[in-house]
Amino acid sequence: MSDALLDVRDLVTRFRTKRGTLVAVDGVSFNIGRGETLGLVGESGCGKSATGQSIMRLIEPPGEIAGGSMVFEGEDLRAKSREEMRQVRGARIAMIFQDPTTTLNPVFPVGGQIAELFRYHTSAGPKEAKARVIDMLAEVGIPRPHERYDAYPHEFSGGMQQRVIIACALVLRPALVIADEPTTALDVTVQAQILALLQRLQRSETNTAVILISHDLGVVAQMCERVCVMYAGNIVEVATTADILDAPKHPYTVGLMQSIPRLDLDEDAAVRPIPGVVADPIRPPSGCKFHPRCAHAFARCYSERPTLKATGNGHMAACHLYDQT
Ligand SMILES: Nc1ncnc2c1ncn2[C@@H]1O[C@H](COP(=O)(O)OP(=O)(O)OP(=O)(O)O)[C@@H](O)[C@H]1O
Ligand SMILES: [Mg+2]
Repeated sequence: MSDALLDVRDLVTRFRTKRGTLVAVDGVSFNIGRGETLGLVGESGCGKSATGQSIMRLIEPPGEIAGGSMVFEGEDLRAKSREEMRQVRGARIAMIFQDPTTTLNPVFPVGGQIAELFRYHTSAGPKEAKARVIDMLAEVGIPRPHERYDAYPHEFSGGMQQRVIIACALVLRPALVIADEPTTALDVTVQAQILALLQRLQRSETNTAVILISHDLGVVAQMCERVCVMYAGNIVEVATTADILDAPKHPYTVGLMQSIPRLDLDEDAAVRPIPGVVADPIRPPSGCKFHPRCAHAFARCYSERPTLKATGNGHMAACHLYDQT
């Protein structure tokens, strides 16, 4: 058995739609260790959020987790009852959602909302919970936390709201935080502050691991030790951030790198989007789903789906270019 905090194997998550079955997560495997920061990156619609929501068991009909396992702290999350999952969510695994308005209830003051979460999972009384929440608000850099405890969500700026959400995610000191595009709605300066805050708290808390979901390889590279690159429901490459940046293997990752704006190049040369359109998740291309957009595709790519194979130094790629034995 691996000593990973979370070990996801062959996860399949699909949605029934009018056009047919949409496979959002198509056999995803990865693991994350205690205290590690792992990036999950890829274009819109590739299944990043669906992967995070599957781990939290938040996929509702017409969606379902149709296969695989998700072993967290030695137990398969798929085998847990709804009640057992309620105990895990928030306390052991917390999620920072893409849309902050889904986390905070607009009609209640923020402090009380976090205190309620804290009390649900602990034996703390009201006073102790309030004190803990005020400490937590101070830790995430909310000025005058005693006063702000009673403020409503709309009374906070976007960046401060995001700090409140981080306070909410960390108040129970979970072992794993899944941060789904935690900064996309914020301007660049505030984005950087929020990411730095998350990183600082992660280090000072009890070895919290973070799965950082983003479409932006630049953001992921800034935060993460290791990166999983997703394309059309598959993980196509896994490597350390340094290896992804210096020696990307999969043609999709190479394309993703070239589509990051770079300050060191002049504007015309800077951004080259990947040609073609994202694979249709209901009727995906045969073989490697990336082959219609790939300049290196050869016969085998049209017929056979590549699996993740080690290419040395813990680097893995799902590409026939690296598997020509
Ligand atoms: N509730 C749902 N019902 C039907 N299809 C869904 C549902 N949720 C997600 N999908 C589909 O699953 C696929 C993966 O979606 P997902 O939200 O995981 O993408 P993502 O990588 O998070 O994209 P983004 O960067 O835009 O957030 C998409 O094709 C999406 O349309
Ligand atoms: Mg998403």
